[in-house]
Amino acid sequence: MSETLSPSLPRTTAMAPERPEDEAAVEALITAAFGAGRFAKTAERLREGSKPSGAFAVHDEGQVVGSVRLWPVRVGETPALFLGPIAVDAGHRSAGLGAELVAACVNHARMTATGGILLVGDRAYFERFGFVPAPDAVLPGPVDRRRVLWLPVQTQAVAGLVRIDA
Ligand SMILES: CC(C)(COP(=O)(O)OP(=O)(O)OC[C@H]1O[C@@H](n2cnc3c(N)ncnc32)[C@H](O)[C@@H]1OP(=O)(O)O)[C@@H](O)C(=O)NCCC(=O)NCCS
Repeated sequence: MSETLSPSLPRTTAMAPERPEDEAAVEALITAAFGAGRFAKTAERLREGSKPSGAFAVHDEGQVVGSVRLWPVRVGETPALFLGPIAVDAGHRSAGLGAELVAACVNHARMTATGGILLVGDRAYFERFGFVPAPDAVLPGPVDRRRVLWLPVQTQAVAGLVRIDA
């Protein structure tokens, strides 16, 4: 890809499904973005012991500079994908990579014919992609309910306990 997305950042990046050899770099990126305390988060309870349904990484000259993963969950009885973490390297932000990663997740969700995508995040960022509040989705631990968001794919709205869909 050679298109320039921002005046300051020439486009040398490429997105692809995450590969096994990306894993260490992805973990380092996530830790840099969220800090070592992320494993205490409620969201982590929906990932531990589970396998991603999909995962995408952005590379720039061999380095991982963006990452997102999707996890199979149920919200009540609705099959869904739990998005997160999503992280872009601090030196590569505001160039549309986050939006590209979310778009890859939406495509993946459409292909897997899921109810929708659930996440815990900033509405101010995610509403541009069509995420709406999902205050009735109950996560397995403390969470600010205003940050629980849903992107409908096959199911307009969800309610109920969120759990890993093993
Ligand atoms: C959130 C994140 C993935 C966005 O990546 P990105 O590649 O910069 O995203 P995009 O280029 O698509 O969009 C950038 C725009 O979104 C805005 N934005 C970023 N995070 C935002 C937030 N939390 N709330 C509101 N707007 C936000 C930026 O200000 C930027 O606006 P601009 O285009 O006017 O400069 C990245 O900022 C990041 O890794 N943050 C740290 C980890 C994190 O907070 N992850 C999300 C938690 S669920």
